[in-house]
Amino acid sequence: MMKKLFLSLVVSLMPLAVFAASEEGFLDHIETDMSNKPSLQHGSQLFMNYCMGCHSLEHGRYNRVAQDLDIPEDIMMENLVFTGDSFGSLMENAMHEDDGKNWFGTAPPDLTLVARVRGEDWLYTYLRGFYKDDSRPMGVNNVRFPNVGMPHVLVELQGLCAEEPHPVSDKKFDPLTGQVLTEGGCEHLEVEGALSKSEYDEAIYDLVNFLDYMGEPFKADRERIGWMVFAFLAVFLVIGQLLYRELWKDIH
Ligand code: HEC
Repeated sequence: MMKKLFLSLVVSLMPLAVFAASEEGFLDHIETDMSNKPSLQHGSQLFMNYCMGCHSLEHGRYNRVAQDLDIPEDIMMENLVFTGDSFGSLMENAMHEDDGKNWFGTAPPDLTLVARVRGEDWLYTYLRGFYKDDSRPMGVNNVRFPNVGMPHVLVELQGLCAEEPHPVSDKKFDPLTGQVLTEGGCEHLEVEGALSKSEYDEAIYDLVNFLDYMGEPFKADRERIGWMVFAFLAVFLVIGQLLYRELWKDIH
């Protein structure tokens, strides 16, 4: 009886699952790592250079980011702050929302919390998901965000993918020779970029790592404090054991 019920439940939910899969497209997976400072620093550099012109991080402050990412104040101010703001300011930009709407159809949203809202895998796939599509106003489309209003701002790094990229899980080898048959990701470039495919993937990893940190700057603190609590408990476990033995010694 239960089995039947369960089965009918599964069957009735199946069309939903299929729909969800086709609606959402694929996701390539990454594990972000907030303890990787060089990666976060590189990500912040990419963001300030390529994204800040349109997107703000208005819930964050430059000095907090500098402190968390071990970036000295003078280096931060000279190389990463292009908006004429002071070290303690919020990371806002000067684009007017109406202008953004006029230029791109949709105003570029603030990205402070985008990693929490969309998830890291979504961002990683989206930023590697642009491809040539002449029917679109910006000449590009995106596998993860069909008909997106954002231009492919990293085209000089990645190059321009000639067709929709594939999931990384599509990578296939010839079982006999071990030769790579399909790569996964972008198979053909229409225009070459400055970075190789793996270098571009790495750059996007760093950028997403940085956005993940921006969405939750306290996560790194929390992880560190968590380990300190463990260490504390471990020490007390040992002391407790010693005390226990000491107290029971005379009773046995
Ligand atoms: C030239 C302006 C411009 C630049 C530069 C730009 N974007 Fe965008 N971005 C947009 C616009 C416009 C949208 C809204 C697209 C839409 O909704 O169709 C957008 C949307 C996004 C979204 C989707 C947000 C959401 O949840 O819907 C993400 C993520 C994003 N951009 C990341 C970036 C990153 C990372 C960079 C830097 C590498 C960047 N953008 C640079 C204009 C820009």
